[in-house]
Amino acid sequence: MCGIVGAVGHKQCSSVLLDALKRLEYRGYDSSGIVTIHDGKITLKRAVGKLVNLDAVLSKGPLKGDIGIGHTRWATHGGVSTANAHPHVASDRVSIVHNGIIENHLAIRQRLEGAGRQFSSDTDSEVLAHLFVEALDSGMEPAAATQQVLAEIEGAYAFAVLTIDYPDILIVARNASPLALGIGDDACYIGSDAIALSHLTRKIVYLKDHDFALVRADGVAVYQEGGVPVNREAVFVAASPGLINKGGYRHFMEKEIHEQPDAIAHSLAAMTNEYGQLTAHMSDSALHAINGIVMLAAGTSHYATQIARYWIESLAGVPVACEVASEYHYRQPATSPYNTAIAVSQSGESLDTLMAMRHAATCNLSTIGLVNVPSSTIAREAGAVLHTRAGPEIGVASTKSFTAQLTVLLCFAVEIARAKRQIDDARAAKIHQKIQALPGLVGKALALFDNIRPIAHRLSHAKSALYLGRGTLYPLALEGALKLKELSYIHAEGFASGEMKHGPIALIEDGLPVVALLSADGLMAKASNNLREASARGGNIILIADADTLAEVDYASAVIEVPPVDPLLAPILLSVPAQILAYLTAVEKGTDVDQPRNLAKSVTVE
Ligand code: M6R
Repeated sequence: MCGIVGAVGHKQCSSVLLDALKRLEYRGYDSSGIVTIHDGKITLKRAVGKLVNLDAVLSKGPLKGDIGIGHTRWATHGGVSTANAHPHVASDRVSIVHNGIIENHLAIRQRLEGAGRQFSSDTDSEVLAHLFVEALDSGMEPAAATQQVLAEIEGAYAFAVLTIDYPDILIVARNASPLALGIGDDACYIGSDAIALSHLTRKIVYLKDHDFALVRADGVAVYQEGGVPVNREAVFVAASPGLINKGGYRHFMEKEIHEQPDAIAHSLAAMTNEYGQLTAHMSDSALHAINGIVMLAAGTSHYATQIARYWIESLAGVPVACEVASEYHYRQPATSPYNTAIAVSQSGESLDTLMAMRHAATCNLSTIGLVNVPSSTIAREAGAVLHTRAGPEIGVASTKSFTAQLTVLLCFAVEIARAKRQIDDARAAKIHQKIQALPGLVGKALALFDNIRPIAHRLSHAKSALYLGRGTLYPLALEGALKLKELSYIHAEGFASGEMKHGPIALIEDGLPVVALLSADGLMAKASNNLREASARGGNIILIADADTLAEVDYASAVIEVPPVDPLLAPILLSVPAQILAYLTAVEKGTDVDQPRNLAKSVTVE
């Protein structure tokens, strides 16, 4: 999703801004641009497509100046074009970059155009530039001008402004969209997240919603709503080594699939105390008090919550509702059966999930965040935080963050069950012991690349595919289908195997690929019957299963076999071949694996 960067006080700042934008590439974008002030004038370069195009434009005409802002745009209002790319400039005097959506932009635009102001893009964002010109025209200084602009706009935003009137100040503000300020030795920076600034500084100030700030080379002045100066403490964020390094792999996704044993092991360590005992880092009384959970998430993270529901309900006997975050917030949910909300998000910045968590808090639910980015907004706002330690995930498709989320959620389920005395310490320790074996099992599943390659080759010619599973493997079927469609653009749908006969079986025709997930749980015989029914109608069954399930299988045209695994852990282990299958199919099709079309890594708009 859109990325914002900025620098003030850094000589030849356009090159550090380009590096910072490269660190935000993983968020997804379709155009980019940088603006600086040089010799009292605004100088601008923009390009459609990848950052290499902007790099080429900058090589032909470098930008000078020690103050600048840059942007990667993920189109919302207005198509993908150079004119719609940020930064936007108004009256050769003010330039802005913006992330989010200004919801009342049409009304503002009509007012400004009525007053004779000329727009040069179709974006909602451009109104910000004109609003600042208007405020400065009336003689306002930066803080007053910002307050006036903020009073008029509605919606979610993080934005940065530079103006030739104050060539040593960047003006920034945020509401619901993330923004970090970086404090350097002789310069200050801004970025959509601390990762963007990790080559420049680790000293970060996070703005809160409705804050704005004036950023100068020697420091930042932050104001809260109403223009009251406020002190926001700087924090030191951990360095992120190897961030833009594929480590010899062809794609970040391939690298991240291979990092899963470590991601799971590190996440497990985060749930274990110094004596090797499982702990959710919450007191037993806090865990015991949980009487019902609403889980809030989007996309892959939502499927992780759906799998966790089986674990939490069966182990701890606690009712769980899994909500698509974007729906929960506006549904006026009846929350009385639940006293706890868990927001699950790799980035910790998905706006839908953040808003849903805030809504849950206003309904008096205790909030717990489960995030992979420790400094993220959800981590900062949740009442309690659980962490996955998967490391930075750059590929847009979630892989290691998903298996790490599942590992932490399984540990969490065990801990609630133990705290509520639904299982005794011995059973909890036994499950924990099995979980400890996961990194090794996942490591073995990584050896499947070569077996899966010919299957992916055939799948790459399909127009459509089905994914089927029962029990915890049903949400994994949904996730497998999402991986295939987002990476290879092949239409794919996931279903509960037992639901096929109620309608979707009509889709089956000769040769339709049906990716089936099977483990040796109590539902294996029923799931096998469902798959036989699909096979009998011409479905081409690609079975992903562990060795213990294969004896009875006589209906598969291809088998991807993982090592024997306890059914409790099966959704975690079977994720790996499902990811590899989608990855290799996309590679066969030659799609943009790490940044699939139209997608963003961190979705910070509603
Ligand atoms: O950062 P989050 O976990 O909140 O992201 C939610 C979804 O956008 C995300 O899981 C998305 O569905 C995956 N990247 C798809 O692979």
